[in-house]
Amino acid sequence: MISILRLGHRIHRDIRVTTHLALTARAFLADNFYYTGQSDSSFENSIEKINQKWGSLFRVRYIPDYKNFLKEIKALKIHLTMYGELLPNKIEEIRNCKNDILIMVGGQKVPPYIYQIADLNISVTTQPISEISSVAIFLNEFFKGKPLTHEFKNSKNKVIPQQKSKKVIKR
Ligand SMILES: C[S@@+](CC[C@H](N)C(=O)[O-])C[C@H]1O[C@@H](n2cnc3c(N)ncnc32)[C@H](O)[C@@H]1O
Repeated sequence: MISILRLGHRIHRDIRVTTHLALTARAFLADNFYYTGQSDSSFENSIEKINQKWGSLFRVRYIPDYKNFLKEIKALKIHLTMYGELLPNKIEEIRNCKNDILIMVGGQKVPPYIYQIADLNISVTTQPISEISSVAIFLNEFFKGKPLTHEFKNSKNKVIPQQKSKKVIKR
């Protein structure tokens, strides 16, 4: 089981980024998406609609108290940060881990607590990028490129890749 924890969601300012982060995590085969900050039913509904149309059992859950959540969850906790250890040097160790994995990403400034509670602080390049791209690249590396061609079995719609037009089959 692989989950994302997005820290510090703000309803109006972050709706687009948090939605895109969840869509990316879903498409790149994460199982769960947890978020802290402000609870946002409109964000949660938009992801549920995507699941209904395009498949996946991806679940979104709001976490009111992230410190408590992080104390209780049994998973390898990985914080993505440009200041962490380089992903290529750690990916094999992470793939070999038998536990569930929780990937933590920030939005605004991340509290020092997250760096401390993380089992691993991992960088996806040592340049500032974004939570969306770091999660996409992490998951694609973790799954060795499998997400790029994956099809969700329970999808109502299936895209047939085309060179110059859109083709979608209803199932
Ligand atoms: C736009 S950045 C904001 C960073 C913020 N200024 C800070 O000090 O934490 C949002 C998130 O993207 C992720 N991120 C940005 N660059 C990264 C990198 N090179 N490697 C891994 N994660 C990164 C981190 O999780 C970060 O909290």
